[in-house]
Amino acid sequence: MTTLDAEDTGVSEPRHPITKWLVFVGAVVMLAGLLFGYDQGVIGGALNGIEDTFHPSTFVIEIITSWVTLGALFGALVAGVMAEKLGRRVTVIWAAILFTIGALVESLAPGTGVMIVGRLVVGFGVGVASLAAPLYAAEMAPTRLRGRFVSMYQLAITFGILIADIVDELLSSGSQWRLMLGLSVVPGILLILAMFPLPDSMVWYMRTGQRDKAVDAIRKVRPDEDVEANLRDIKASLGTEQASWGEVFSEKWRAPLVLGVGLAIFQQFTGINAVIYYSDKIFAAAGFSTPQQQTAATTWSIGVVNVLATLIAVAYVDRLGRRPLMFAGLIGMGLSLLVMSLCFRYLDRIATAATGATANTPSDAGVVMLVAMVVFIASFAFSLGPVVWTVINEIYPGFVRGRGVAVATAANWGAAWLVTRFFLTLVDWIGESGVFFLFAVMCAVTYGFVWKLQPETKGRTLEQIQQMWTAKAAAKHPGTTR
Ligand code: BGC
Repeated sequence: MTTLDAEDTGVSEPRHPITKWLVFVGAVVMLAGLLFGYDQGVIGGALNGIEDTFHPSTFVIEIITSWVTLGALFGALVAGVMAEKLGRRVTVIWAAILFTIGALVESLAPGTGVMIVGRLVVGFGVGVASLAAPLYAAEMAPTRLRGRFVSMYQLAITFGILIADIVDELLSSGSQWRLMLGLSVVPGILLILAMFPLPDSMVWYMRTGQRDKAVDAIRKVRPDEDVEANLRDIKASLGTEQASWGEVFSEKWRAPLVLGVGLAIFQQFTGINAVIYYSDKIFAAAGFSTPQQQTAATTWSIGVVNVLATLIAVAYVDRLGRRPLMFAGLIGMGLSLLVMSLCFRYLDRIATAATGATANTPSDAGVVMLVAMVVFIASFAFSLGPVVWTVINEIYPGFVRGRGVAVATAANWGAAWLVTRFFLTLVDWIGESGVFFLFAVMCAVTYGFVWKLQPETKGRTLEQIQQMWTAKAAAKHPGTTR
């Protein structure tokens, strides 16, 4: 059983001042999240205009929409090595450069070929950012604020998705897709400029033998912590091992690897992106009869609920801990998915309403469905959304953290791609009710997984988390400690 509690680590938590550097780090990390969310969300609204301009085939439309996810998968893997070799900070700058170039190429594209290149560059940038920004946040934050810092990154993603939806709504009538896609150039350039004066993480400086810079970074963001103790801990966690892919997959780091990859996959296999995708149809069932009404309802209820409920995690992830948020969220998600499944199955004639022919008033099933969907989004937003990214970025040992996080992040993108690619096929196969039931079952499986394999990491330093794995591995296989 792995119900370890932070209280028994003996870490006392004095009040740390929040320095202007720390605020700056937080703001920059949020800017990266914002770009990520915006680029992920904006294509939905831009697509109509792109179709009107280029008349692409269905195959090309599919590439334009889904290859960003595949680009992100590769971006995350490459970024793992970049973060180790070039540093976390330079990797974030590269992500911002890629975002900016990709957005320019997309918005100026004379044809679909160039557009696809732009999408791939943006996708690659999204992947690089999805690795580097939360990793930088997790290493820079003082222990007591680490969960909050990474959750603020997720908050920015949800905010980016919301802004993209609003921009899509505002600009869709004039078919101004070039402007929609091009807009992210501004925050992209801002991110590049804002990142320059910031230090890299103390872990990376120590890893590359730059002790003075590590001291400087600690003084800037953790001014009242014992610098020498910080350095000693980091040094011990880096050990003498060389970072390699072999180390990431080695027996002694099996537990964090399974935990990180498992959480990354479950975050997607419990259906978040399918529900977001399906929301227009659900609003149709609830009586919003025109596509404009459905899009507006999606933007304001799904988008705003997603942002607001993430604030719960920002407030509580370091107080209540990661596990309670996960359990509460999974229960909310599982139950609301069951309700959605039942609505599709029994409370009939949603389909009639969905065609919009007669319905201007919500059907009963539609209203129940709508409430269930809002509960689902809120439950995800305070649990699996932010907590999964927090845990992924804190559980790997210092000397291979970049690569470890890369494997989990790439698994997340791979799983996201699978769900969006095969969701409709699955609906054809077992029906909406069956698919949502399957997602509910996945919530139960995830609950068991978290219960058995996810230790509480609240209040532990990154180095203490690493020691915890070593102690566990030693208890399991005596004689294999490092
Ligand atoms: C997930 C995304 C999802 C988003 C929704 C993120 O944590 O990784 O796949 O679209 O949350 O808010």
